[in-house]
Amino acid sequence: MRLQLLAAASVGVAACFTFEPADFDVVTALLDVGVDVFQVPGLSDLVDRSWSNACSMACSTLQTIFGNGSVFMPGESDYQAFTNSYWSVQQASVDPRCVFRPAEARQVSALVLLSRLSQCPFAVKSGGHAAFAGASSIQGGITVSLSRFNQVSLSENKQSATIGPGNVWYDVYTALEPHQVTVIGGRVAGIGVGGLTLGGGISFFSNIYGWACDNVLSYTVVTASGTIITASPSEHQNLFWALRGGGNNFGIVTSFNVRAIPQGLMWGGGRFHLETEFPAVIDAYYNLGVNAAKDGNAAQILSFAYVQNTKLASAALQYAQPVANASILAEYMSIPAIGDTTQIRSLANLTQEFNASNPDGLRETYWAATFKLDRDFVAFIKDVFFEELVAIADAPALIPAATLQVITVPQLEHMAQNGGNALGLGTALGPLIVLNMNMMWSDAADDERVMTANANIVRRTGEEAEKRGLQDEYIYMNYASQYQDVVGGYGAANQERLRSVAKSYDPAGVWQKLQPGYFKLDGAPAKMQVGGK
Ligand SMILES: Cc1cc2nc3c(=O)[nH]c(=O)nc-3n(C[C@H](O)[C@H](O)[C@H](O)COP(=O)(O)OP(=O)(O)OC[C@H]3O[C@@H](n4cnc5c(N)ncnc54)[C@H](O)[C@@H]3O)c2cc1C
Ligand SMILES: *[C@@H]1O[C@H](CO)[C@@H](O)[C@H](O)[C@H]1NC(C)=O
Ligand SMILES: *[C@@H]1O[C@H](CO)[C@@H](O)[C@H](O)[C@H]1NC(C)=O
Ligand SMILES: *[C@@H]1O[C@H](CO)[C@@H](O)[C@H](O)[C@H]1NC(C)=O
Ligand SMILES: *[C@@H]1O[C@H](CO)[C@@H](O)[C@H](O)[C@H]1NC(C)=O
Repeated sequence: MRLQLLAAASVGVAACFTFEPADFDVVTALLDVGVDVFQVPGLSDLVDRSWSNACSMACSTLQTIFGNGSVFMPGESDYQAFTNSYWSVQQASVDPRCVFRPAEARQVSALVLLSRLSQCPFAVKSGGHAAFAGASSIQGGITVSLSRFNQVSLSENKQSATIGPGNVWYDVYTALEPHQVTVIGGRVAGIGVGGLTLGGGISFFSNIYGWACDNVLSYTVVTASGTIITASPSEHQNLFWALRGGGNNFGIVTSFNVRAIPQGLMWGGGRFHLETEFPAVIDAYYNLGVNAAKDGNAAQILSFAYVQNTKLASAALQYAQPVANASILAEYMSIPAIGDTTQIRSLANLTQEFNASNPDGLRETYWAATFKLDRDFVAFIKDVFFEELVAIADAPALIPAATLQVITVPQLEHMAQNGGNALGLGTALGPLIVLNMNMMWSDAADDERVMTANANIVRRTGEEAEKRGLQDEYIYMNYASQYQDVVGGYGAANQERLRSVAKSYDPAGVWQKLQPGYFKLDGAPAKMQVGGK
């Protein structure tokens, strides 16, 4: 926070001088002189009380103006159903002062301006699959549900589709399927259009077309001043660039106009292998990663997991055409498997299979790291993962996985289209391993040791990668934990450009302060209080 003020001051010399910065915050100022109000019970009550008054007022105003169906209050069954609709228990456990369900962009503008007036903070939920508390929920504030923005419409020439962030990808795919087209989106049915697209978005078809953010033609976005604008390669170009990977730091997107691609039936599913096959699986992962340009129809997600005291590898394999056992996948298919669900099916059907293995209702954590693609290093990651599991393997309902994908050279090449994105990934870097550490468990008493194990895996693999010259600073937002500095990982130049776009479109810092959750422009959302780093 202090750094942010300094940065704002140093780039603000050309602007009018004001003694008190426009974003002055009493709580932060007190912290700077050594008073942490959250450590003093009486004082923290004061902060809470004023917050809570502001939010009561903002919530009742929304209710009066937009009607009872637009606002859910604690104790109502709709409120309960809403808070239960998150993927992780950590997010479902957050209790907002109210839930606001705007029906059109103008109502989103009203929310933003009322928040500025009252200083009641807010959060925005699309599919609710971000894992950590506060990412798309806010204790005591206003959580905005985008569920009414559920448009899916295809242009007449079938080249583009307009999709609202109130949809999950299953809704989008099933609506487009009768037209034999689809869009670049998530691989699990229940993931939201909003979060996935704003953070990047890896799809089954990314080796052919690139990531979701690289296939957005334009965004309709509500800005910090409540105006509704279109960002595209020809209008508000800098904002368009920033929205391609900049997350929730630039506005609330009420619709995405995206490229539509021809798509009929495809092939895909999961294959499961025992430890004896791990060396062959690692070879197949590596070879498919380096050979991605040979046949962009193929895609893979490799997970090492520990299930019922057994070490397993799960290879989720896909082919964009209705072709079983395509030759580029022959190496994978020749590995003996103890289970295999691969078949020819629709995209929507495949996303439902993967949805079933990612149920709601558990505690969840996701972590991300990026490395140059290297065969031996994949084995190193796998070994560190199983070593660190020893300390937590007895945690009830634990399902731990180290999930590996490849950011292939074709994917990196597509990042340059339409003026490039904010992620800071150049073609010269590729191919890259993107590691997604992910664990589900049931008991809050295990939170600390599960987090420590994940932090250890990310730290140890990072240190070893540094030694081997394989480290990359990129941290994929959509897989990152609250303890990771995502925007810092985009590189100093991109971080600076993002700050400067934010300064133009949001000089008062609305998205940084009144919407405090998730990955902000400066630093990680939280500091780790326990082991790890
Ligand atoms: C089971 C599972 C499968 C996954 N599969 C994939 C995959 O195939 N490919 C991939 O790339 N990632 C995948 N992810 C990661 C996924 O992209 C992130 O979890 C993403 O944040 C989910 O988006 P959401 O809309 O569901 O989440 P939410 O929690 O609703 O939103 C995440 C963040 O985005 C913000 N946000 C959402 N919509 C808007 C909007 N319209 N305007 C402004 N801000 C907004 C929210 O405020 C929040 O901060 C997966 C995650 C899970 C848990
Ligand atoms: C909301 O509900 C309250 C209580 O039932 C009612 O008095 C009020 O008129 C309703 N407001 C609107 C805008 O529908
Ligand atoms: C694909 O390969 C699997 C495993 O090698 C085999 O069982 C299956 O019959 C093959 N399917 C087709 C359609 O060739
Ligand atoms: C997917 O398709 C398969 C094969 O047609 C079918 O057996 C299965 O029930 C479908 N799954 C879903 C979730 O629709
Ligand atoms: C995904 O799974 C959850 C249960 O964990 C379920 O509530 C949801 O309806 C599923 N989504 C789709 C689109 O199938």
